[in-house]
Amino acid sequence: MKVPLGSIAIGALVVGCATTMEAPRNEAVADLAPTAGNSAKGTVTFTQKDGTVLIVAKVSGLTPGNHGFHIHEKGDCGAADAMSAGGHFNPMSKPHAHPSSPDRHTGDMPMLVADASGNATLTAELTLMRIGSGPNDIIGKAVIVHKDPDDFTTQPTGNSGARVACGVVRKA
Ligand code: CU
Ligand code: ZN
Repeated sequence: MKVPLGSIAIGALVVGCATTMEAPRNEAVADLAPTAGNSAKGTVTFTQKDGTVLIVAKVSGLTPGNHGFHIHEKGDCGAADAMSAGGHFNPMSKPHAHPSSPDRHTGDMPMLVADASGNATLTAELTLMRIGSGPNDIIGKAVIVHKDPDDFTTQPTGNSGARVACGVVRKA
């Protein structure tokens, strides 16, 4: 009787160990605050999956229509116009492009589309970016919302104009 009981105990220990070693939920968040003279604000959450990152953005205080939306290379929203955040996050030295192209800045994301009340919600799942490891790690970078649409063609910015909101990406 003692042998099977011992086996059961060992089995339970192994299961317990496997549960403990499961990867923790890998999430990041950016709280967006308006730049000088603007009113856009909101929250962006990032959840890492196997080969992608799920992005959920909720932004208010926008002008109706499309707005360029990127991760920029420096986590510094200190300047009144958020130019302190630098250019698009581009650790792989790629051109600016639509997020459907694998040949793009790691920080290139789909545009925010604001309704008549200036509210935008976006859900997207993107490759390239990662949370917490490797050269494409977005922790400590900045999310920027632009005044104008992104044409996904003009280099290296997409010609999306002034920066209306900025937020640093931090581990959630
Ligand atoms: Cu940008
Ligand atoms: Zn870009």
